[in-house]
Amino acid sequence: MRSLFALILLAGLAASSTLPAQQSFNVELSVPKVNVSLYVMSRCPDARICENVFESVIQKEGILDKIDLSIGYIGTPNKTEPLGVTCKHGQIECIGNSHQLCLYKHLPIDKAYAIIQCQNYPSSFPKEIGTIESIKKCVNTVGIDWIKSGIGKCIQSENFNQTSKSIINLKTKDEEVKKLGKEAKILLKENVQKVYEKGIKTSCTIDIDSTIEKYGKRRCIVDGGVWKGCDDGHTPQDFIRVIEEEYKNLQGKKFD
Ligand SMILES: *[C@@H]1O[C@H](CO)[C@@H](O)[C@H](O)[C@H]1NC(C)=O
Ligand SMILES: *[C@@H]1O[C@H](CO)[C@@H](O)[C@H](O)[C@H]1NC(C)=O
Ligand SMILES: *[C@@H]1O[C@H](CO)[C@@H](O)[C@H](O)[C@H]1NC(C)=O
Repeated sequence: MRSLFALILLAGLAASSTLPAQQSFNVELSVPKVNVSLYVMSRCPDARICENVFESVIQKEGILDKIDLSIGYIGTPNKTEPLGVTCKHGQIECIGNSHQLCLYKHLPIDKAYAIIQCQNYPSSFPKEIGTIESIKKCVNTVGIDWIKSGIGKCIQSENFNQTSKSIINLKTKDEEVKKLGKEAKILLKENVQKVYEKGIKTSCTIDIDSTIEKYGKRRCIVDGGVWKGCDDGHTPQDFIRVIEEEYKNLQGKKFD
């Protein structure tokens, strides 16, 4: 995610440059992308529906080069909570959100997505989301090294890197918070705060920034298992079509 951000900054610099030589040198970096945002909660069945559809979207060849995908977790900033956030499905969900944010921070989007899909599949969903066992198992399944990837350090506090006795007891809430890595905690607070400020409350909400539609946004929601407000359709093919349309329009605008 950090490198994506750097690219966006570079793109901005390239666009404001007036030297033709420099422009052609930076031409690849200045290609504008379509902003796509998914707002979810890790233990929410509606988020699982969205993520399932979006997995097919990001698997479409070339699509990741055309989007800036951002993932937002819905919660309420709350100073009296151990993690500074109240999550709809309890503190264990806040922890699950922070685990997934560590994935997005340290892995390419397709890998992070594969791990989240692995967490979403079991029939026991969402029981294990938020436990170290669940995330660790799925990180392994996807073939990512827990330590080398930086995920382990993000998710687990240094004082708790032994998981042998970590059969999760969901009642000892503060224990779980203590086990969580500092980076995970920071990512959670920052991410939830941003989403809260945007006023987004429904998991799952999919927003695609539009330079075609007059409201500047195409929004699609899954609420209680029902797709709502999805004027452009809600299959993977529909999202791909919209992204391609918006991308094409953006490239046209660049040369206005
Ligand atoms: C994408 O989002 C960024 C950051 O919010 C914004 O500056 C940019 O204008 C957006 N791009 C498009 C094409 O909507
Ligand atoms: C804030 O957290 C406390 C528990 O620490 C809880 O009782 C309260 O309902 C929360 N407030 C909101 C607005 O979620
Ligand atoms: C955590 O892991 C590091 C490196 O693997 C090790 O040196 C350290 O002793 C471990 N700490 C605990 C509390 O297990």
